[in-house]
Amino acid sequence: MKANFVCGPVVIAIGIILSDFTVAVGDTMEEEKNLKSGYYYASQETRDMQDDDFGNPALLLLEDAEELWSKVEGTAGKSCASCHEDPASDMKGVGATYPKYDEILKKPITLSQFINRERREKMGAKEWNWESKQLLGLSAYIMLQSRGMPYTLVIDGPMEPFFKQGRELYFTRSGQFDMACKYCHTDYADTLLRGNRLSNGLANGFPTYRLGAQRLVSLHNRFMGCEKRLRAQPYKAQSDEYINLELYLKWRGRNISIEMPSVRL
Ligand code: HEC
Ligand code: HEC
Repeated sequence: MKANFVCGPVVIAIGIILSDFTVAVGDTMEEEKNLKSGYYYASQETRDMQDDDFGNPALLLLEDAEELWSKVEGTAGKSCASCHEDPASDMKGVGATYPKYDEILKKPITLSQFINRERREKMGAKEWNWESKQLLGLSAYIMLQSRGMPYTLVIDGPMEPFFKQGRELYFTRSGQFDMACKYCHTDYADTLLRGNRLSNGLANGFPTYRLGAQRLVSLHNRFMGCEKRLRAQPYKAQSDEYINLELYLKWRGRNISIEMPSVRL
């Protein structure tokens, strides 16, 4: 097994390609028309698993989340269902709007953060860890109510500086390999990298069920994995950097419909 993700000559080639690159929004317009969900780049086996209405391994976790919706917890003696009785209609399209500007934080808030705020403030319950089964399950359950819809994000007004920072991060080289997200997920999308077909690195299936981990995995966890591969120091889950990056990625894939429950390698 090779320890390195890519070998020497490739790294040199990347340096040459990226040094000529300047961030421009104009040049992404054409590319966006050709963007595809990670589903498209997954193996037939993985796709079949996602499409299987009975065998999709994420379904069981969504059923657990459905139960969690009505589970009373915390000092207020309430569950989500106490106030959001019919998630299919109350939460329809809601997940598609996150991250969105939050007047209290004066910056974008993610769906995960919002769920924890509801627990803390409306239920008097303990917040969940970002990568916990409960929080990922409930996030996926809310995203399920936006299945098939495109994102409806706001990126102007107070959101603009955050959007710009996220976009910049996507194009910024980092780590020992001195590579940007763009390198793999834009320039080399649809090519094979150690047996993996590189996708456009979109967010439309998250939280996603990863076969390797056999659990739901957050988008920020995925970012960390990609950064570790680059030998870069990853940011933390729910850090400003990752929230901005999430905003940019979702905007980038805004014409791709939300996929839930999704399965990835
Ligand atoms: C005591 C009632 C109450 C409880 C309990 C409650 N919510 Fe809410 N929730 C509200 C109200 C009222 C709003 C709209 C106003 C606001 O943002 O506070 C809301 C808004 C939301 C939104 C944002 C909708 C949007 O348009 O962006 C989400 C998501 C949400 N709740 C999820 C949850 C989840 C998940 C739980 C359980 C963990 C929960 N809520 C528990 C009352 C409640
Ligand atoms: C060295 C190449 C490489 C770089 C650079 C890279 N990734 Fe990835 N990434 C991968 C591989 C390989 C996968 C798994 C196959 C796929 O979905 O592309 C992946 C998967 C993903 C996925 C999951 C897509 C899905 O539909 O499941 C996201 C999101 C993602 N990357 C985001 C990023 C972000 C953000 C950055 C920059 C911080 C980044 N990646 C940098 C190689 C890379």
